[in-house]
Amino acid sequence: MTMEEVLKVRGARHRYGDKVALDGVDLDVHAGECVALLGPNGAGKTTLVNLAIGLLSRQAGEITLAGGDPRHAATRRKLGVVQQSLGFPNTMRVGEAVSGAAVRAGMTRGAAGPILAEVGLTDLLKQRVVKLSGGQRQRVQLAMALVADPALLVLDEPTVGLDVPARRRFWDLLAERRAKGTGVLVTTHLIEESAAVADRVVVLANGRVLADARPDVLVDRLPDRTVSARTTLSGEQLSRLPGVVSVDREGEHVRLTTRSPEALLRRLLAEDPALAELRVEGAGLEEAVVALTKASGTAVAA
Ligand SMILES: Nc1ncnc2c1ncn2[C@@H]1O[C@H](COP(=O)(O)OP(=O)(O)OP(=O)(O)O)[C@@H](O)[C@H]1O
Ligand SMILES: [Mg+2]
Repeated sequence: MTMEEVLKVRGARHRYGDKVALDGVDLDVHAGECVALLGPNGAGKTTLVNLAIGLLSRQAGEITLAGGDPRHAATRRKLGVVQQSLGFPNTMRVGEAVSGAAVRAGMTRGAAGPILAEVGLTDLLKQRVVKLSGGQRQRVQLAMALVADPALLVLDEPTVGLDVPARRRFWDLLAERRAKGTGVLVTTHLIEESAAVADRVVVLANGRVLADARPDVLVDRLPDRTVSARTTLSGEQLSRLPGVVSVDREGEHVRLTTRSPEALLRRLLAEDPALAELRVEGAGLEEAVVALTKASGTAVAA
């Protein structure tokens, strides 16, 4: 990749007393790129994020944020952060929260206007932030994070509490920012969603990077999926369908294993108009993470 790095982590190690939280982690986020950080509880995700955004002091390794040291205030101005549970003062109103963030970033209060419109909060300008719904509050934070036009946006579980249209809108908005060069680092447990939006997925476990790969590369390492249905197609017809690994049938009930369920489903639906009780089981990055965690030591590269 030729794009400039907005976050570069090399050999990060971090311990809390005796507890090793990060054990030599490398991570890059390039301009315009979205990197999803996945991993089980205690993997070290928050520690890594806190180092990247300058909330924790570096113990070992190199961390560069937009070309500077994340512990310097001037560097942190190039950063937008959306935290999962940020408290707001009781009396603070939506407009004030975002114009305050603009001023802290060295801009005019007026810079808040277009951002508030962008995230769809113009109607709630005068509302107190504490009275907003979780999803609306999330948008206030996003507006605060975006107002300074950050080089890197760091998001901790950003779509928790958002309904589906809000979620789609959120990712669309990020896509626009990414097109203008903003890098995005997102920690999430919404694995399918991150696979859909991320350019790269970094899987952490026990303070080490298990995988750093494109989502489709990770998905390729998944165990087979099972498609079950009631169908009148014969075993022979079924075994000729695309990507079928095995066919198991009991009367009209069949269970097929496949590596490419999408293609299989399309053909099944096309060839058997009477298809019923269709189910697809397994798979998603969740399984990939589990599989990779079990196969620890065999790192996956893009
Ligand atoms: N302040 C702290 N003091 C001592 N140990 C800590 C501290 N913060 C984190 N740890 C330990 O470091 C390890 C990594 O924690 P971290 O919070 O980075 O994980 P995480 O991947 O963010 O987990 P989660 O998904 O649960 O948020 C864990 O074993 C945790 O217990
Ligand atoms: Mg965490």
